[in-house]
Amino acid sequence: MDLQPGYRRERLPDPESVGEDEVLVEAIRASIRASGPMTFARFMEHALYEPGHGYYRRPDPGPGRAGDFLTAPEAHPIFGAVIGRLLEQAWEALGRPEEFTISEPGAGTGALAAGLLGGLRDLGSPMLSAVRYRPVEVEPSRVDAIRARLADAGIDPFIRPEEPGPGARETGAVVANEVLDALPVHRVVGRPGRPEGIAELLVALDEGGSFAWAERDPTTAALAERLHDEGVTLADGQVTEVCLALDGWLADAARHLARGVVVLVDYADEPAALHDPVTRPTGTLRAFARHAVGGDPFRHVGRQDLTATVDLAAVRAAAARAGLRPVGETTQAELVATLGTGELTTAILRRDGADLQDALDLRSALARLLDPRGMGGFRVLVFGRGLPDGTALEGLRRLRRAGG
Ligand SMILES: C[S@@+](CC[C@H](N)C(=O)[O-])C[C@H]1O[C@@H](n2cnc3c(N)ncnc32)[C@H](O)[C@@H]1O
Repeated sequence: MDLQPGYRRERLPDPESVGEDEVLVEAIRASIRASGPMTFARFMEHALYEPGHGYYRRPDPGPGRAGDFLTAPEAHPIFGAVIGRLLEQAWEALGRPEEFTISEPGAGTGALAAGLLGGLRDLGSPMLSAVRYRPVEVEPSRVDAIRARLADAGIDPFIRPEEPGPGARETGAVVANEVLDALPVHRVVGRPGRPEGIAELLVALDEGGSFAWAERDPTTAALAERLHDEGVTLADGQVTEVCLALDGWLADAARHLARGVVVLVDYADEPAALHDPVTRPTGTLRAFARHAVGGDPFRHVGRQDLTATVDLAAVRAAAARAGLRPVGETTQAELVATLGTGELTTAILRRDGADLQDALDLRSALARLLDPRGMGGFRVLVFGRGLPDGTALEGLRRLRRAGG
């Protein structure tokens, strides 16, 4: 996600004005009073996903120009269109199946779907008639809003919002943009004197009843095991995050996929960089409200997004355990540079009514999506199941580095 809401100068909303969800705060406090300090993962689940109160369970969506942060699909439809071209290559590799179901967990406002389906239509893609698109959201009312958005854009015939039966086996794709970073994380701190070299940071209440960190023995051995498997030793006092929810999430997201690809896009890093004591001594947990980044997860509870940089090695391991094989990896910048220029930009600017402002918006969006220090640095991971041996997707070709 990016902080700046747009390229045209706009007044930024005041992050302090969001307040907090008082009912949610009181419910979390009551739970801590009754059962003692809770893991940060549990706190994050409440803060983001508590029905009716969590940040992602509110009627108004978080991403977008009027919201709290800007994601690539919200920045410009060309991002979704680029993903569409990548999926078209998978469809070709599968021998052009008659039905190709695209499931999108964390579909948000439907921006990625609008760009993807609109892009396939603009390009006259032969895949379009095979596409069945299924948005998947934790908040059910979002699916209705996505449907309405796509109907407005005239691309609703491809929508299949219904969940398939439990044993359904589909050919197609699972696409998730900036969802893994929103999964609950545990927080740990390096303590070389302790048996596993770590303690866990739990959420407790201080004497005044405010949320406060409490250092305790780890609540699960899985935390030390993850760091050990990744060859990471935390320095004394170094804080970091560990996401144990990845395995369950990925297995569930791909449970209907018999043949096809899983495309995951997010800000992510290798374990050595993610848990580096010099560059990231306090981890990567961040809070977003009204296009401002904050470091305090205990403020604006239920009204701000909480997020942590994704561990690439943990995603690869979770994919392998879910029976998915690696197809390729690249960066968002390279994906967009490879698939998002040329005929796609031409098609967008040839749409009925396209004007000079559209050309300027497209140019600005491309600059942002290609910026390797910003969204362009996001990682694209593609895994497959049931693909023909040796399947290579042209869109995942890495570009030669300057000077390399
Ligand atoms: C940062 S937003 C990204 C939204 C959208 N993909 C985009 O790029 O604009 C994260 C989204 O993931 C959704 N989400 C989180 N966990 C989920 C889960 N387990 N299943 C489905 N959606 C989930 C949230 O509701 C939210 O809409």
